[in-house]
Amino acid sequence: MRELKLEPVLVSDDLRVALTSAGLLVDDLDGSDRSYFALVAADRRVVGYSGVETCDDEAVLLRSVVVLPEYRSKGYGRHLVELTLAKTSPSAEVYLATTTAASFFEPIGFASVQRDQVPPAILSTRQLSGLCPASATIMKLERPPT
Ligand SMILES: CC(C)(COP(=O)(O)OP(=O)(O)OC[C@H]1O[C@@H](n2cnc3c(N)ncnc32)[C@H](O)[C@@H]1OP(=O)(O)O)[C@@H](O)C(=O)NCCC(=O)NCCS
Repeated sequence: MRELKLEPVLVSDDLRVALTSAGLLVDDLDGSDRSYFALVAADRRVVGYSGVETCDDEAVLLRSVVVLPEYRSKGYGRHLVELTLAKTSPSAEVYLATTTAASFFEPIGFASVQRDQVPPAILSTRQLSGLCPASATIMKLERPPT
């Protein structure tokens, strides 16, 4: 894993294709409060992408987490999330919404929360307020990764 680096990237066609192919949202990628990263191998191949949406000083939405299909089930997803979390302020509360991968995020330290426990700044993101189905699981980073 040490040969993999997390690098900031701009919104690109490659990012859009990776997210669309994985069934993730692309309608709300743009915005000055959104940062994206690529997990890059030593040979410069991109293994996956992630994003962070800063909602206010206290709350951050982890989003757009995808490992390209050929690299899945090798531990890269967890590594990608952990490196991305390291980019967030230690004092910020980190949330995410997922329809399919809650059990991927649980061992990393996320736990499901009810919508009435989620700060308005997170609920008002486009993901939570409209694009994500109401049935999506909302998770909060509760503890350091195991
Ligand atoms: C979810 C995703 C990022 C995981 O990437 P990955 O590189 O395959 O994950 P890892 O190899 O680090 O897996 C870590 C663990 O999570 C499990 N896991 C992987 N994908 C999972 C999923 N979709 N749901 C539940 N568990 C999952 C693995 O089995 C593994 O468990 P193990 O350590 O007991 O073997 C990848 O499958 C993906 O890009 N999926 C499509 C997009 C998506 O669903 N993103 C998350 C929502 S934002």
